[in-house]
Amino acid sequence: MEKIFLDILRPDDWHVHLREGEMLSSVLPFTYENFGSALIMPNLDTPITNISLAETYYNEICKRIPRGAEFTPNMTLYLTNHLSKDEIKKVSNHEYIKAIKMYPKGATTNSDAGISDFKDFYHLFEVMEEKGVILSIHGEVTDEKIDVFERESVFIEKVLKKIIKQFPNLKIVLEHITSADAVKFINEESMVAATITIHHLMVNRNIMLSKGIRPDFYCAPILKTEYDRLALVQAATSGNCKFFLGTDSAPHVEGKKIASCGCAGIFSSPLAIPLLIQLFEEHSSLEKIEPFVSRNGRAFYGLRQHKDRVRYVKRPKSIEVIKDIKSSHGKITVFNPYNEVYWEKED
Ligand code: NCD
Ligand code: ZN
Repeated sequence: MEKIFLDILRPDDWHVHLREGEMLSSVLPFTYENFGSALIMPNLDTPITNISLAETYYNEICKRIPRGAEFTPNMTLYLTNHLSKDEIKKVSNHEYIKAIKMYPKGATTNSDAGISDFKDFYHLFEVMEEKGVILSIHGEVTDEKIDVFERESVFIEKVLKKIIKQFPNLKIVLEHITSADAVKFINEESMVAATITIHHLMVNRNIMLSKGIRPDFYCAPILKTEYDRLALVQAATSGNCKFFLGTDSAPHVEGKKIASCGCAGIFSSPLAIPLLIQLFEEHSSLEKIEPFVSRNGRAFYGLRQHKDRVRYVKRPKSIEVIKDIKSSHGKITVFNPYNEVYWEKED
């Protein structure tokens, strides 16, 4: 049978959690083997709140990348009130710190240092807007009175629109969007782009909750309806430069996922690209995968496009794929909602 290939410019991951220590060593290979660069999230146990901590973390990551791997880690700073205007000016000229990440306090894993009132940061947004520093946002309100499924839409209405009104030229990435409301909003705003994860493109809340609970699909922001998922698929497969891949791959060991109070986060780096290819193929949009995984993010972040291509091959029979990885604290399940996977990277 004739071999089917897909050649794409090397993909990037614009939102990933690599953790630290042993976990970093275990999960990092899946990122540097599959992506040309990644934007590394700063929500460690001790959050990366300044340039010096980001540089130390960057060195920890680089130490673990083998020579010859063509991979660039890009770093983020965690927005807190310890961040100064001067530090932001330095970020604007920094070689590899590419964004400042805003977590609402309590929205997700390690967000206790997150912020309570956005207005407290307007003096910093002003400098970011002036210097072209990107604000990367976990877009959910954390008010317990607001239903968990509504928190992204309420954030857009009550918080994000206010920030944009005040700072119309601030470059913003709304991370891991989950809803049709968010897609509509991004399409209407000129300075705001969005990352989309593979899990929000592939599964919905019914799959997570209707035939028994599936803790491996539990993440923040929580999965939404099938209507929302289809709006995300439409956005990702449209080729629109405002949407790009951020896997939000967020490893937690099984004991922390399957627990009386389980952690939010899905580990998706290992199969991210083969699964996405399969999804785009199902939607007859294979020609739109390169903008989504390789081009749009680099363009928004103002980086030169990669030049080299990677080849994926479609096998006639489904492939034996990785199910989990082991760590000394337990196994970490790899996200894979498909029974059969046909695509793999050609070595
Ligand atoms: C992330 C994590 O575990 O660090 N979890 C998640 O469900 N996405 C944090 C985040 O991005 O919200
Ligand atoms: Zn994340």
